[in-house]
Amino acid sequence: MRVFSGVQPTGNIHIGNYLGALRQFVALQDEGECIYCIVDLHAITLPKDPSELRSHILDVAALYMAIGLDPKRSILFVQSDVPGHAELSWILTCCAYTGELSRMTQFKDKSRGNESAPAGLFLYPVLMAADILLYDADVVPVGQDQKQHIELTRDLAVRVNNRFGDDTLVVPDGRFLKEGARVMALDDPTSKMSKSAESEMSRISLLDDDAKIKKAIMRATTDSDGEIRYDIERKPGISNLLSIYGAFSGRSVDDVAAQYQGQGYGSLKKDLVEVTVDALRPIKERFCEIRPSGELVDALRDGAERANAIAARVLARVQGKFGLGV
Ligand code: AMP
Ligand code: TRP
Repeated sequence: MRVFSGVQPTGNIHIGNYLGALRQFVALQDEGECIYCIVDLHAITLPKDPSELRSHILDVAALYMAIGLDPKRSILFVQSDVPGHAELSWILTCCAYTGELSRMTQFKDKSRGNESAPAGLFLYPVLMAADILLYDADVVPVGQDQKQHIELTRDLAVRVNNRFGDDTLVVPDGRFLKEGARVMALDDPTSKMSKSAESEMSRISLLDDDAKIKKAIMRATTDSDGEIRYDIERKPGISNLLSIYGAFSGRSVDDVAAQYQGQGYGSLKKDLVEVTVDALRPIKERFCEIRPSGELVDALRDGAERANAIAARVLARVQGKFGLGV
């Protein structure tokens, strides 16, 4: 089984990214051949400061290793170091329909009908499909918000295969977790936790200090009925805290809810602070060791070389099917 996934090199990698996607990356190392990318070409769909981008690429690489990804067992690399991503992306762009791309909710949210929205935002899902299909990936671990993009990837693969044969592209499956696939903002549990929300209190970043973690959880928006129960519709705040708790401690939300039955929100929050602080401590410690070390860049160069060997083979196969080149 081959696994592929990617994370954008932006600051503020948060517990939503970790619980929805990154912790799956680690577990899957025992199940298959894993390829994890830092998708810098996706990051420039909106203008980025170049030196900040470079530094965020290394931050995500160090975080990958800090959570337990092993650059010897898995391939860790930067997207723009492998030219095949952009090349396959163009081929797939020619197979995608403008209609289906206009229906992508992420595009609609980010462009909001703005005539000057970069075309890269529109083509973002095609580049993501190229990332995945370039490695014949079987499984793609992601959070719930990527479901529509995975569906498009599958549709494109099937469309290409219908034209050129089933041996052209591997049709991948998304892999979503039960707890943590959609972590909501702490200060507004009706919208998802995001890297870009203005308020720092909306998220817990993996590198936040203990005081900030405590503040964000203790201030998290809840409700006034005082009952600890999992009910996303009526009690989005408490449900979000229960699911973060469950995901960090490897327990089901029902189990956690049963434990706090009859207690106040304060005790649930206090314990969640402890669970979160304990879970993030080793990640922060390893990050601080790895980030300044020269091994980081060496690992990424080695990863790019190994990724390129696979990508070049798949790209040549696809180009051949399309009749491209001499
Ligand atoms: P991104 O930072 O957008 O590159 O996202 C990296 C990964 O984290 C993707 O697999 C997303 O689906 C996942 N993710 C992002 N936000 C959340 C969230 N609030 N809850 C769960 N997963 C998330
Ligand atoms: N679009 C994904 C996100 O925003 C990041 C991504 C890019 C990705 N290419 C990918 C995820 C390929 C999985 C596979 O989270």
